Amino acid sequence: MRITRTIAETRAILHDERALHHTIGLVPTMGAFHEGHLSLMRQARSDCDCVVVSLFVNPTQFVPGEDLERYPRDFDRDADLAEQVGANVLFAPAAEEVYPEGYQTYVEVEELTKGLCGRFRPGHFRGVTTVVLKLLNMVNPHKAYFGEKDYQQLKVIERMARDLNLGVEIVAMPIVREPDGLAISSRNDYLSPQERGAALVVPRSLTEAQKVLQSGQRAAAALRQAVEACFAGEGMARLQYVEVVDAETLEPLEVVERPARLAVAALVGQTRLIDNCPLRP
Ligand code: PAJ
Repeated sequence: MRITRTIAETRAILHDERALHHTIGLVPTMGAFHEGHLSLMRQARSDCDCVVVSLFVNPTQFVPGEDLERYPRDFDRDADLAEQVGANVLFAPAAEEVYPEGYQTYVEVEELTKGLCGRFRPGHFRGVTTVVLKLLNMVNPHKAYFGEKDYQQLKVIERMARDLNLGVEIVAMPIVREPDGLAISSRNDYLSPQERGAALVVPRSLTEAQKVLQSGQRAAAALRQAVEACFAGEGMARLQYVEVVDAETLEPLEVVERPARLAVAALVGQTRLIDNCPLRP
């Protein structure tokens, strides 16, 4: 595996790969690799000839007051893991090259970013789409891999790729969970042992709502209530939002009569956790 720190050296490698007619897959990440990240890399490994993993803790997607400074960073461990799953290039650009002095260009997906996390993290998705577009321009992959863990992010990126004719295939990957159901996230490491126990209310609440749907109750209000009832019994976790939305447009639904998504954000202590699941009518 090659480790690259500049756009020029990354492009030089990829120029050679393209000359060999190799397909290129990009897995954008902010590091602190866990099984969620590795599942994306493994899929890229099996789909593509050349797997590029980007590692960049993107400052523009952190809203003031968020955890940019204390975001977990362990480059050597990440490089070992990426190499083990067969990545060809680990591309870790410097912030100064991604956002040079005088930087002032941003890309924004309008409607899809208004609800859900967009309401609580103003400017977050503008930072995400901007950096993802830049990474796609730097690497110019055939395919790029994103997790359903960040479902709104995935839909926003799919929309951007279509709207801007990026010509890249966006590949969606399922949520990887701990054995007890908690969706794996770098931010889980912030949880104290007690908070880690309390955090299980998040996946449990999704399962409860899915049971309500399976019993024949299609009203979004009833599904939201099932989630709220779970949180009412867990003092250490606070529900930030629970929404039933159309699986593609992310518009709130009253009744589940087409493919939908149940999305939850919660605060467990100081840590913000998100999770979601499909709702099939
Ligand atoms: P990061 O949080 O590092 O996540 C990188 C990718 O891994 C994202 O596509 C995310 O959805 C996926 N992922 C994280 N946890 C997962 C899990 N438990 N199961 C499946 N996939 C999981 O998301 C970002 O970085 C950034 O916003 C980025 C897209 C890199 C732009 O900066």
